[in-house]
Amino acid sequence: MIKKGIILAGGAGSRMSPVTKAVNKQLLPLYDKPLFFYPLSVLMLAKIKDILIIVNKGQVEQFKKVLPNGNSLGIKITYAEQEKPKGLPDAFLVGEKFIHKSSVALILGDNFFFGQSLTKKLIECTNLSKGAKILLHTVKNPSLYGVASINKKKKVISIVEKPKRITSNLAVTGLYFFDNKVINYSKSLKQSKRKEIEIVDLLNKYRSKNELSAEIIGRGGTWLDTGSIEDFNNTSNFVATIENRQGFKIGCIEEIALNNKWINKNQIKKAINFYGNCDYSKYLNSIISK
Ligand code: DAU
Repeated sequence: MIKKGIILAGGAGSRMSPVTKAVNKQLLPLYDKPLFFYPLSVLMLAKIKDILIIVNKGQVEQFKKVLPNGNSLGIKITYAEQEKPKGLPDAFLVGEKFIHKSSVALILGDNFFFGQSLTKKLIECTNLSKGAKILLHTVKNPSLYGVASINKKKKVISIVEKPKRITSNLAVTGLYFFDNKVINYSKSLKQSKRKEIEIVDLLNKYRSKNELSAEIIGRGGTWLDTGSIEDFNNTSNFVATIENRQGFKIGCIEEIALNNKWINKNQIKKAINFYGNCDYSKYLNSIISK
């Protein structure tokens, strides 16, 4: 069982400059809550309670203003700083002590997932005992992502980062599950041409040892991008559309904690007090008044 998770929430945010010049992208509002609430809620839906959030140098205090620690959610949150954006597998080097001898899930701080059987799928993924697991999703423009080709038995036969020539429409989403070998494998990675260590190289290490498996998020599931201003805005509008139609919030971390029985109504009341008079608090109040 995977019980630990990392949210990689640093990065230069260069594609969204100037809005990311002074503020970490993951603190920006995706409709009605900071972006990082969404990947955090994904880990919480997977029943992961021990979470490391990796941010850029000097940004921990900013994050702590929104989420000081995990007490309000009945979970453990630790923060760490990444010296500079050295590549996604750097998460396992920054997080080496946190991971210790465990297996671990990694979610990128800018990834958005939504869909009916998502929670079931997430929990299945945490059953991983050996190797690595990735989640794939069909997209129209695969060259923006890591791309996987699979055979008829759903075995991954290749993974390439942002290929110019497209051989598959299956993008590798930013949610990964690894056994403890991930630390040593990450240490052995060489920098690529863009001077980063690459997640595809890490995944290919597992693949070459026949230890990489893949799950597909089908068309009933949603995986959205927040990479560019336009994608960010589209994802924000998606959340607004669903929330205003259904009356349920997406990525409401206190609601998930309450449903998981990690906190009680009193802790929700404390959260309302903390957030103050806002729509988010009104929503929290509505879920404890039922
Ligand atoms: O979103 C899925 C895609 O994420 C995958 O399909 C690709 O294989 C994977 O490389 C990655 O591609 P991106 O181009 O979206 O990665 P990006 O450099 O934008 O970083 C993704 C997030 O991770 C973003 O929130 C910033 C954060 N980050 C990134 C790096 C390289 C860090 O916190 N530290 C880093 O060193």
